[in-house]
Amino acid sequence: MLKKFERYPLTFGPTPIEKLDRLGKHLGGKVEIYAKREDCNSGLALGGNKLRKLEYIIPAAIASKADTLVSIGGVQSNHTRMVAAVAAKIGMKCVLVQESWVPHEDAVYDRVGNILLSRIMGAEVRLVDEGFDIGIRGSWEAALDEVKSRGGRPYAIPAGASVHTLGGLGYVGFAEEVRAQEKQLGFAFDYIVVCTVTGSTQAGMVVGFARDGRQRNVIGIDASATPAQAKAQVLKIARHTATLVELGKEIDGDDVLLLEGYAYPSYGIPSEETKEAIRLCARLEGMIIDPVYEGKSMQGMVNLVQKGFFPEGSKVLYAHLGGGPAINGYSYTFRNG
Ligand SMILES: Cc1ncc(COP(=O)(O)O)c(C=O)c1O
Repeated sequence: MLKKFERYPLTFGPTPIEKLDRLGKHLGGKVEIYAKREDCNSGLALGGNKLRKLEYIIPAAIASKADTLVSIGGVQSNHTRMVAAVAAKIGMKCVLVQESWVPHEDAVYDRVGNILLSRIMGAEVRLVDEGFDIGIRGSWEAALDEVKSRGGRPYAIPAGASVHTLGGLGYVGFAEEVRAQEKQLGFAFDYIVVCTVTGSTQAGMVVGFARDGRQRNVIGIDASATPAQAKAQVLKIARHTATLVELGKEIDGDDVLLLEGYAYPSYGIPSEETKEAIRLCARLEGMIIDPVYEGKSMQGMVNLVQKGFFPEGSKVLYAHLGGGPAINGYSYTFRNG
């Protein structure tokens, strides 16, 4: 589906699929749980889901003759860390607008984890006061203008690399990769569970799995706490991406399944249940997930298994999209483990 698009390799290749046996047994043993380890996808600054997206965006950045990547996210954005790493790798400058998306107070929140890594990689990091919003932001447009006014050539990468015209392609590739891995494994997954905030990860998967009619088996778990906006964004990106890859089928609203109810109390703040999901994975599988994204999708998947949402015998593939570095900003939350 992606042959006609140029790809700049930033990842190691297909990511491993690992069976989470102890977690599956702990949850009653009626479904099999697997993780696709997107968190281990690259040697670039600890990896994660944005690299698949950036592989299709970077050729356009290079072709534009830009010298500076400009992007935006929260203070502990994984996406901006990935943009900083890619800028370093391809020899561009990087300007990052880090908004106050999370009402979280920790003495070192703006010093550790993702933002620390971005600073070390040489990005120009700007902290601004704006609150959470996955849309296009004035502060980002201002940063683009400023790079231009000092003679630079900026290339704009939106939050989560999502509403970029090529932002959905990377996770179409994920679906193709899973299909190839299913052939080797000798079975197909019944469900794919994915965390959603800015939308292009789920949107790409919906389009990729629509090729064999499995788009409704992609279960998005909202971590944005603005699910209506997130769902509309997933649908919009999926429709656009379907046209780009010439899917040959329409994506309609019912093809995007986004479950609400796990993002409370707000984006970036873990509930007691999110913290329990993080401990559960760490203690049963040695698998580290974060309080902002995967902690919430894991909480959602655990709850769905417990509620009997997945029929007995189902094989469920949990997309581990990365995000581990942010946990450093929650050291007080986990001070007792
Ligand atoms: C670790 C992690 N998981 C999940 C997501 C959600 O992906 P998307 O923004 O494409 O919906 C993100 C980024 O926002 C992320 O960094």
